Amino acid sequence: MKLLVTGANGNLAGAVIENLRAILPDRKFLAVGTRNTDSAYARQLAAAGITVRHLDFMNAGSVTAALAGIDRMLMISTYDPNDIRIQQHRTAIDAAVKAGVHHVIYTSCINADPASAFEHNSQVHAPTEAMIKASGLQYTFLRHNLYTEFLLMDLKETLTSGQLQRGGGGARIAFIGRDDLGVSAARVLAGDGHGNVIYTETGPEALSYTEAAAIMSEVFERPIKYVELTAQQWYQRSMGMGYPEPVARASMSNVIAASKGEFSTVSRDYEKITGRSARSVRQLLLDNKARYLKVYAA
Ligand SMILES: NC(=O)c1ccc[n+]([C@@H]2O[C@H](COP(=O)([O-])OP(=O)(O)OC[C@H]3O[C@@H](n4cnc5c(N)ncnc54)[C@H](OP(=O)(O)O)[C@@H]3O)[C@@H](O)[C@H]2O)c1
Repeated sequence: MKLLVTGANGNLAGAVIENLRAILPDRKFLAVGTRNTDSAYARQLAAAGITVRHLDFMNAGSVTAALAGIDRMLMISTYDPNDIRIQQHRTAIDAAVKAGVHHVIYTSCINADPASAFEHNSQVHAPTEAMIKASGLQYTFLRHNLYTEFLLMDLKETLTSGQLQRGGGGARIAFIGRDDLGVSAARVLAGDGHGNVIYTETGPEALSYTEAAAIMSEVFERPIKYVELTAQQWYQRSMGMGYPEPVARASMSNVIAASKGEFSTVSRDYEKITGRSARSVRQLLLDNKARYLKVYAA
């Protein structure tokens, strides 16, 4: 059984790959695909005996070639504007069929429904899931809730201003950390019994932004208060953080979806996969405080 993880240089992919390295009996069973096979991480993986292949969803030939001899693929969703993402995902699925892959595991999103207020769901995740089902491939959908790291993306400013600026009012969100999602994705990819299953992966509790800000305040030992933004203000803020305009526009729908409670479900699916619950926001911040300060606030 040969496994492949797409997008090797990404954050989630890195967490999955490191977990696979720990649980696979032999590195020859693991391949990774990336647009940049020359990055320090890709070179490190190749040196460790892992197959590193060029793979770009914008280039169908590269995906088919990268998938030669692969039985299961973890297809990590991209983060381009939604109209491009859906084309990339179409390319990846067609290539998987052509290359003879048996099972696709796809990183989707909680509430991946065409009627979701979250445009990433209605425009990308729901149609991608439908395409995978229609392809006849065996599938597993890992419907991730919002990453805990979403609270940290502007940590430097949050610590300086004492303001966690997000949209969604009193919405509750069951955040889950990428490191924990790396554990579960690796288990699904390397394990059996996950064919044609949908998992909703969430943290163990649904927090309001006010509660999340209080936890951040406690862990980072600075006063931090939640400041509510409207969807329009969140768009401006996303633009200010350097997101491409279509991505910033789509992220406005995050605010609407959050306020409708689309991220509030607490599911036990993570525990079903891994045997333990995902870490709470407080625990994840405590466990990784030094690293998060280095990555997000240096
Ligand atoms: N639930 C949430 O809160 C949340 C938040 C942010 C993102 N997401 C989704 O989860 C995914 C993983 O998150 P992350 O934090 O790991 O993102 P990230 O670090 O920004 O990584 C982006 C990933 O997309 C891959 N990629 C980009 N363009 C590609 C292309 N043309 N062909 C193939 N792969 C391509 C990259 O792979 P290479 O660079 O190695 O080619 C990389 O793995 C994101 O891409 C996004 O769809 C979810």
